[in-house]
Amino acid sequence: MTLQLPAKATIIEVGPRDGLQNEKNFVPTEVKKDFIRGLKSAGLTEMELTSFVSPKWVPQMGDAAEIVADCLDNETRNIVLAPNRKGMERVYMTDCKAVAVFVGVSNTFNQKNINKSTQESMAELIPIIGELKEKGYFVRACISTAFYCPYEGKIKLEDTLSLCRQFVDAGVDELSVADTIGMAAPHESYALFSSLKREFTDTLLTAHFHDTRKLALSNILAALQAGIDRFDTSAGGLGGCPFAPGAAGNAATEDVVYMLERMGIQTNVNLEKLVEAIAIVGPYLSRSIESAYYRLLQQNV
Ligand code: HMG
Ligand code: MG
Repeated sequence: MTLQLPAKATIIEVGPRDGLQNEKNFVPTEVKKDFIRGLKSAGLTEMELTSFVSPKWVPQMGDAAEIVADCLDNETRNIVLAPNRKGMERVYMTDCKAVAVFVGVSNTFNQKNINKSTQESMAELIPIIGELKEKGYFVRACISTAFYCPYEGKIKLEDTLSLCRQFVDAGVDELSVADTIGMAAPHESYALFSSLKREFTDTLLTAHFHDTRKLALSNILAALQAGIDRFDTSAGGLGGCPFAPGAAGNAATEDVVYMLERMGIQTNVNLEKLVEAIAIVGPYLSRSIESAYYRLLQQNV
């Protein structure tokens, strides 16, 4: 039996958003912009730039409008996150044309993250998605706690599928399905992504793994076997949700690109330039960069 491998895969860079939102020190806005520019010059063509959330809840994202004002271009799918009507009104004041909404399968997580039940969030978001599609936006739905919740434990596969179905029926272009606290194992990745792939044949399907237990690469390989070829990753392996205790960073872009390219899967990401982009933001972070690729490079290995 041979591995099922696509000829190419798409990396959706989430470093400027997921990567930085959990960072304690405020990263100066100009540094964030240079980081984004650096990532783009490394060949990353889909990217979460920032999020229009409450600056009281996530102060790091308080400069969202300034980031968007300077970082849009025609070569990249520049995505911004918004959790509610107020966030969407702020998006409408920009020229950004791709939006991500986010909801947890787990009610308790959604309450802690967005201060609403999952059902309340969906009741608010479904009409907004219709409105976004009418206005010509690209809409991505991020499905949090698709495998495990830090408060409710294991999530039933059927519950995740059911939430995804509501988003697909509402008209989203993409589902980004997340292992928020990095607890999924490869057999669970394979099972969920196989089911998603079977059911949602006309929707872009993306896997979003946090690397808390160092299983992100294995989960990506399992998702590849299920036919997934889109992966959210974060340069430097930064990231984590401030309202999900135990969530470590995302799968590091450089480690994922290295693995995919080693398997002959084309990503179009230039690792040298990616490392240069990480070096822009590195000095402003309270944590060190721990990805294998970056660490070995520092040691000249
Ligand atoms: P709330 O306090 O319930 O909001 O927060 P509210 O509607 O009661 O409003 C309270 C105040 O916030 C008001 O201001 C509003 O105007 C303001 P005041 O009158 O007190 O001055 N407000 C806003 N301001 C700016 N932008 C907005 C906004 N909405 C209200 N959009 C809220 C509700 C959703 C705002 C809050 O809970 C919040 O900001 N949550 C965001 C949490 C977050 O950013 N989490 C991380 C992103 S999700 C993630 O990382 C997971 C993902 O990576 C996938 C995975 O790994 O699982 C995507
Ligand atoms: Mg995340």
